[in-house]
Amino acid sequence: ATAVALAKEVGPAFKDGFWRTGQFSKVSDFAAEDKLGNKADCVTAVDRYIEKTIFDRLRQIYPTHKLVGEESTAESGNGCQVTDDPTWIVDPVDGTNNFVHHFPYTGISIGLAINKEPVVGVIYLPILDELYTASRGAGAFLNGEPLPLIRPPALTSPTALSQCALVSEHGSYRSQKTMSLRLRSLARLLTDKQDGGGCLQNLRITGGACPDLTLVAKGSAELYWECGPHVWDFAAGVVIVTESGGAVFDGAGWWGSDIPESERIPKPLNMWNRKIVAVRYIPDLPDKPGSGRELQKKLAKELLDLVDDFEYPP
Ligand code: IPD
Repeated sequence: ATAVALAKEVGPAFKDGFWRTGQFSKVSDFAAEDKLGNKADCVTAVDRYIEKTIFDRLRQIYPTHKLVGEESTAESGNGCQVTDDPTWIVDPVDGTNNFVHHFPYTGISIGLAINKEPVVGVIYLPILDELYTASRGAGAFLNGEPLPLIRPPALTSPTALSQCALVSEHGSYRSQKTMSLRLRSLARLLTDKQDGGGCLQNLRITGGACPDLTLVAKGSAELYWECGPHVWDFAAGVVIVTESGGAVFDGAGWWGSDIPESERIPKPLNMWNRKIVAVRYIPDLPDKPGSGRELQKKLAKELLDLVDDFEYPP
């Protein structure tokens, strides 16, 4: 409830910044800066305003909780450390590059982790008017409707990558090494195989890790893959995906609402700076209980086998 109230509270400022109206109507107020001279990685007065507003409130409500935010971490220059303490993990404007270009796939992400495990996730995409909410064991919702929105039989059970849509992001580190590994991976994923084995049915790039994860939770894309997102890019989104029946994988294990302890990623938040794959809820095949979970693993493995492993920053 706190995360939802905070997201709603800063929504009007987000919209003002996006449309350059109200309190952010002066372009000088709005001006985007490059983080550390990286033109693809920008920050605006709106990012700082929203993060500060959310953190000020959280400090009042939960004085002992830890806070990790994209902008304060960037400004401190010390990186971020997530401990076992209750920790709020906030990206005030995920997809800032979209925000600057008035491209609507951008939003506010608020996650809460306890023992390094994300347990609450709220993503608000104000321009699309979509509020995603989830907490561990209690399901995931879009504007109050349970996720995934698309349900069986309309929601099918893909058995191969060739039946899948992937959402994936470039990140903002564009060195030659990083980009050539990424583009080589995408070429493998998109090219027909000689043996008739499938490439992906489609690839979409929205420009934001958070909107991507909401598309997977909604059932609009089967897979999300990215190498090296930051913890604030996925802390809320992985709760929303897993509570919608999806699963999240990294090289070391996987994470989902009913995954046995032995198969789980030990500390999901250590996934930072590694590859991460999210797979949407897959209904069981007729008369095959458990087959949906097996298909999630199979698709993630097929994808991970085709992509290079690279780190950000390179
Ligand atoms: C970024 C976006 C981008 C993704 C990066 C994120 P930001 O978030 O989600 O699509 O590739 O990993 O850092 O910097 O705009 O909040």
